[in-house]
Amino acid sequence: MAVKQRQDDYFAITLPGLEEICAAELEQIGIASPRPVPGGVEFSGPLRTLYLANLWSRTATRVVVRVGDVAARDFPALYRKVVRLPWGRYLRPDDELDVRVSCQRSRLGHSGRVAETVSEAVGHALGTTATGTGRARVLVRMEDDRCYLSVDSSGELLHRRGYRHSPVAAPLRETLAAAILMTLGWRGESPLVDAMAGSGTFVIEAALIACRRPPGRNRRFAFMDWPGYRSGVWNLLLQDADRQQRAVPCVLQGSDIDDKAIVAAIDNAKRAGVADFVNFTAQPMQQLQPPADSGLILCNPPYGERIGTKSGLSELYRELGELYTGSFAQWQSAMLCPCSEIDRVADLNWHNRLVFSNGGVKVALLERTRVETT
Ligand SMILES: C[S@@+](CC[C@H](N)C(=O)[O-])C[C@H]1O[C@@H](n2cnc3c(N)ncnc32)[C@H](O)[C@@H]1O
Repeated sequence: MAVKQRQDDYFAITLPGLEEICAAELEQIGIASPRPVPGGVEFSGPLRTLYLANLWSRTATRVVVRVGDVAARDFPALYRKVVRLPWGRYLRPDDELDVRVSCQRSRLGHSGRVAETVSEAVGHALGTTATGTGRARVLVRMEDDRCYLSVDSSGELLHRRGYRHSPVAAPLRETLAAAILMTLGWRGESPLVDAMAGSGTFVIEAALIACRRPPGRNRRFAFMDWPGYRSGVWNLLLQDADRQQRAVPCVLQGSDIDDKAIVAAIDNAKRAGVADFVNFTAQPMQQLQPPADSGLILCNPPYGERIGTKSGLSELYRELGELYTGSFAQWQSAMLCPCSEIDRVADLNWHNRLVFSNGGVKVALLERTRVETT
């Protein structure tokens, strides 16, 4: 008789604005019925599902397992109920806990005391008194007198792929770059050009998508330290991932006016293991020529304050428009633009594909509406 596997509930945390794209990605990875909600994506399944999401998601920031939720209007009740949850599945007695709390519309509104109470209750449940800032992260949300408790399964944040050591100004988060490529429908089959590549994030994420390498292939995850970690399941997922890898079938090119940024981008591509698939050159975007008849050209121009003057920004957008409607007219073209500056590019016939927050600035992904030539 087949043994029924335990199903757990999980939550993939995303940057605000990326919930839908992350849900579509999880579905494509093979996860059943992911549900986008504000702040992330809910999904359920056996442990394999959790491993799959951590290994393959290019857009989630971290993945947590829901341990349970309890009604609590006073601290003794909170303690009593939290002790009874199945902490031993995810934590060990010697784990030092890092309990993060947020409170909304609840009688228990003192996050420090909630953290202390949860920490003591979990310690009691595990038969330990270990507390303090440790590796095992417990996330607690008090909302309307209900306490929702989760354990982090990722450890290091998922956008920290580990390839970006060389700093440049205003790099894009790796998860955001991947989400933008997916939103634009880029699947790793057609040429791609980043006209202002900076540290190379778009091009490197594109290479990882095109060669079908999971972003979590070579890293450790917090779930590997759980008592119930199933290394056999994980190794099968890695073998399956390795079978899918291939050489990149299309040109992936990045350029930037700043030589130092290009040195950093090449360095980053080497660390990401995709240097053979990408091409970076120091060049102003005004001089770019298309490397193929069609493809995707995109860029993340500097924001107003970095470029010095607002008139400088208008000039840059005008030249970008000339590039996109001139030699790249047959290409799909997109750019990032702070929402506050969208009026400056109104005449370029853009449509807005996505709005997200990047380093506290509200930014839109604009795609040029192409006029079909017959
Ligand atoms: C916001 S940064 C891009 C960051 C990049 N997406 C990353 O993840 O590292 C903007 C870049 O535009 C470049 N830039 C500014 N004017 C340019 C021009 N005319 N041609 C090419 N690159 C330019 C800057 O040197 C800078 O690296």
